[in-house]
Amino acid sequence: MKILVTGGLGYIGSHTVVELQAAGLEVVIVDNLSNSHIEVLNKIEKISGIRPSFSKLDLADRDSCSNFFKGEKAISGIIHFAAYKAVGESVKEPLKYYHNNLDSLINVLENMKTYHIPNLVFSSSCTVYGQPDKLPVTEQAPRKPALSPYGNTKQMAEDIIRDTVYASAIKSIALRYFNPVGAHYSALIGELPLGVPNNLLPFITQTASGIREQLSVFGSDYNTPDGTAIRDYIHVVDLAKAHVVAVKRMLNDKSKSNYEIFNIGTGNGYSVLEVIKSFEKVSKLKLNYKIVGRREGDIEKVWADTSFANKELGWKAQKTLDEMTLSAWRFQQQLSKNMK
Ligand code: UFG
Repeated sequence: MKILVTGGLGYIGSHTVVELQAAGLEVVIVDNLSNSHIEVLNKIEKISGIRPSFSKLDLADRDSCSNFFKGEKAISGIIHFAAYKAVGESVKEPLKYYHNNLDSLINVLENMKTYHIPNLVFSSSCTVYGQPDKLPVTEQAPRKPALSPYGNTKQMAEDIIRDTVYASAIKSIALRYFNPVGAHYSALIGELPLGVPNNLLPFITQTASGIREQLSVFGSDYNTPDGTAIRDYIHVVDLAKAHVVAVKRMLNDKSKSNYEIFNIGTGNGYSVLEVIKSFEKVSKLKLNYKIVGRREGDIEKVWADTSFANKELGWKAQKTLDEMTLSAWRFQQQLSKNMK
């Protein structure tokens, strides 16, 4: 069975490729390398012993996309990661986000129809819930108006997929990720943010390794036990495994409906200070941080109700917060070593 992974050299994509290979599936990667590195292909091969086929390709370009599908036969399913994901950048350059994230999806769906490729796993996000009224948040919770063009592309993409599934033979599973963190245990692949990281874990590990001087903790006056914001952090390898389960569910015709949505988190919420404490414990370092004002657009707290994914997919996140922070730290140490 051949699975096409778009954005397969990116952070979540590369971990998913490794898990697909471990499950005996053949992987074809397309990636435009806009936020990823070609060396990741070697790292994947080093981990799994198998070099996946790779094409550098901009899926948002209609002609390049259809040429690719014309030449690539017998794809059983697609996992579509390829998208821009920086919330702040999307506010400044909305058209870049709408063009890339939506045109690439539409082009992929058109080719799925043309070449009768039946199965699509889509990377969605808990960002579609905004600040939920009830926690933990279930898949039935209403989606709130998006706070950024990035978030809007995830909502619109879900709708585009739902409508296309309704009108075609395509089946899809949308996975709404909570906060993916950590790295592969080999420390060969992990999150490689370009420039100054926006996300908490890369900022913590870069501060600890001396690349950044100090971590700013955004807000300590939230309505949470320690005043800092709460998220459901999930180890990227647990998240990658959810994709394998989802794609197999469709390949084995086990879907209960043609379009399914699952929350992919751990079900546990941790505050920013709890993440810092975990990092300090596993690294045996003291982190230089200071508490500053809230970051615009941040929600106060969110964590997943994962019971639907646990029951229906037979999947459950396994890794603890300490395993997440330790693996992120080991990956950063490896990167720092390679820079020397
Ligand atoms: N934080 C800090 N300091 C930092 C970075 C983050 O205190 O330097 C805090 C944030 O304020 C937030 C928490 O750490 O409370 C997590 O922040 P991240 O930026 O790591 O993650 P977000 O929850 O803001 O964003 C993530 C994804 C987005 C997605 C969003 C909602 O990165 O792509 O979840 O799904 F849109």
